[in-house]
Amino acid sequence: MQIIQDKGLQKQFYQQHQLPSADFQLFSSAVQLHQAIQDGAIQLPFVQKTRTAGYDGKGVSIIRHAKDELFDSPCVVEPLVQIEKELAVIVARNERGAIATYPAVEMVFHPTANLVELLACPARIKPELAQQAAEIAKNVITAFDICGLLAVEFFLTTSGELLINEVAPRPHNSGHHTIESCFTSQFEQHLRAILNLPLGSTDLKSPAVMVNLLGAPHHYGNVTYLKIADALSIKGVHLHLYGKTSTAPFRKMGHATVLAATLEEAIANAQQVQALIEVVAEK
Ligand SMILES: Nc1ncnc2c1ncn2[C@@H]1O[C@H](COP(=O)(O)OP(=O)(O)O)[C@@H](O)[C@H]1O
Ligand SMILES: [Mg+2]
Repeated sequence: MQIIQDKGLQKQFYQQHQLPSADFQLFSSAVQLHQAIQDGAIQLPFVQKTRTAGYDGKGVSIIRHAKDELFDSPCVVEPLVQIEKELAVIVARNERGAIATYPAVEMVFHPTANLVELLACPARIKPELAQQAAEIAKNVITAFDICGLLAVEFFLTTSGELLINEVAPRPHNSGHHTIESCFTSQFEQHLRAILNLPLGSTDLKSPAVMVNLLGAPHHYGNVTYLKIADALSIKGVHLHLYGKTSTAPFRKMGHATVLAATLEEAIANAQQVQALIEVVAEK
């Protein structure tokens, strides 16, 4: 937990264990980072990440110009990776060392909020790449000696390389679809893993898409959901609202999972759900 909470320690861990991840440098303040830019010690553009307390894109910033505002805290700096796709693999391990991986999911990001908006499973990648991602995920959970669930986020680069971005040692947004789409949900799998029970099958029963239900821009306060009934009348839609009382722009308030015979149909139906449901503040 201590290593994973600190993105700097996390990156050092991957380096020490020869697990593939983007290059990085550590800095302690904006002044120090600014100096490195002036000295030409780091190249623009780059990605600055606060070492701790970041989530959902908060604490991550793409720096393109020397004058861009920097976070003034201990940080990781990485080159801006040319990303073809972002992928995630959820992996579970019990005390006996049994390991099971879920099929890779493909993340589609919200254009401005830097937050996953749509997630598709199985990821539309070559079987060899899916296999490779699963192997890396197994190596990561073994290296950390974790008992339980681990979500491994990857970048698939435009040159076809898989890089570990970061990990989360818990049930994860990228595994929400497993409740409806897999033989064993990520939540049940976590309990099986920590109780040293046999891990359940991670087979996919159906292609699935998950969409986050995010608070609408400019809306703050007591939440209400519009067009829920219309969304639920679309085939294969399952709704999960998190019971948060108050909404804010881009806050994760719930998600919908959409099952369909093909991934294309699931994506189309999920986009309809997303266009319909509005997460707004009560008038
Ligand atoms: N080195 C990088 N190159 C390009 N994009 C990046 C890089 N690092 C992060 N990103 C983008 O920012 C997002 C959030 O970064 P991440 O480290 O996963 O932080 P968070 O804890 O907010 O999830 C990533 O999913 C990716 O879209
Ligand atoms: Mg992330």
